[in-house]
Amino acid sequence: MISVTGLSRGYRDGAAVVDVLRGVDLSVAAGEWVAIVGRSGSGKSTLLHVLGGLDSGFLGQVSVAQTALQGLSDGALARFRNEKVGFVFQSFHLVQGLSALDNVALPEFFGEGGAGREARAKEALSRVGLGDKAGRLPSQLSGGERQRVAIARALFARPPVLLCDEPTGNLDAQTAEEIVGVFQDLHRQGLTIVAVTHEQRLMGAAQRVVTLREGRLS
Ligand SMILES: Nc1ncnc2c1ncn2[C@@H]1O[C@H](COP(=O)(O)OP(=O)(O)O)[C@@H](O)[C@H]1O
Ligand SMILES: [Mg+2]
Repeated sequence: MISVTGLSRGYRDGAAVVDVLRGVDLSVAAGEWVAIVGRSGSGKSTLLHVLGGLDSGFLGQVSVAQTALQGLSDGALARFRNEKVGFVFQSFHLVQGLSALDNVALPEFFGEGGAGREARAKEALSRVGLGDKAGRLPSQLSGGERQRVAIARALFARPPVLLCDEPTGNLDAQTAEEIVGVFQDLHRQGLTIVAVTHEQRLMGAAQRVVTLREGRLS
């Protein structure tokens, strides 16, 4: 599902160039669940952004869900992001004035709307166990429920791959456990999951843990 070969990414820092990723190789099978760990600043978010088509300034071969990302146009990258990957962040980024359902369907907020949009949002909320709370505002939900809404939003377009950047980073231990349970359900449903994390529970639940160190994965 994911194939990365010789991925390098550097940033310009004044006159110098800082090489963050220096030849990352990674292969993730369809339906696999991989955790990425590494110290702060080791490039985990940078790697996730490349995998999610949010960053095109890299060198190397990156293929995700049968899409080769190197050299894609901005339009093609936008389509890739809309169809192939869902993103979950540490912060939930929910719109306070919108219901859970409208937050989930936000990717199509300016689209045609209609029954299909609502049905798909409800399906996504059911997948994270929130089928009965579609009408709630974020302020009427617990922290764990808010993160579940954010996960449902990432699933709205039914992507095959879920990319998560420290998805339990803002949650207490018990709530983190609740979110790990959601990922376990999604994994059982066949989703491919790549999750950057510091959290022991999330690492333990993944099938494989890889470490980013000195710009490479091991
Ligand atoms: N847009 C950017 N411009 C310049 N440097 C960046 C940018 N994004 C990240 N970096 C640098 O790249 C390194 C890795 O960052 P990041 O991928 O966020 O690490 P992690 O997620 O593992 O903490 C850090 O030194 C960070 O300062
Ligand atoms: Mg990070």
